Amino acid sequence: MMGDPLRHPGEEVLFTGGRVSQADKAEREAWQAAPLSVLVHHLVAVCHEECRVDMARLETLVELEALEGGSLNLDFLEVRDMISRFCTVMRTHLALEERNLFPYVIGLGDGAITPAQKEALGDMRQLLEADHEAEAGMLRTIRGLTAAMATSPDPASPESRIHEALMNLSGHLQKHFYLENQVLFPRTR
Ligand SMILES: [Fe+2]
Ligand SMILES: [Fe+2]
Repeated sequence: MMGDPLRHPGEEVLFTGGRVSQADKAEREAWQAAPLSVLVHHLVAVCHEECRVDMARLETLVELEALEGGSLNLDFLEVRDMISRFCTVMRTHLALEERNLFPYVIGLGDGAITPAQKEALGDMRQLLEADHEAEAGMLRTIRGLTAAMATSPDPASPESRIHEALMNLSGHLQKHFYLENQVLFPRTR
């Protein structure tokens, strides 16, 4: 039975479902030492890309299930609405980071931002940290609601595929939030 990978966003249990492997530790240390511009590039090109792909896959699975059998099930409709809200909030969050935070972080690494810009960067960082907590909470709620859907022994069933897509999204977000909360944000203070 898997643990909840989003139970402690940003804490020591992250990366591999409750344990921190040697490879994970080495990767964390490498990111701590990496130039800010390289870390930001990784967040956008890998973490944000994964998140967008995971969300699109999840939304498609849910819409297929709604068409093929779940559309009259009130519990399923609630799950579909929550997934839709989560994806809307998450896409706004990703765009906010890419347009309003990351350019200033790169400027900070280059020593090219003003004190006023640095103060604005701090306000943005606080907003985004609060977003992470809210997003992790939404995902935990969705997973709680869908837990019963994943009891089918058939891994190809829609319920199992939706659950697997949720777990995949959770696993990727766990690492993504860790890199931002524990590596990127502290380096911008
Ligand atoms: Fe991000
Ligand atoms: Fe973020």
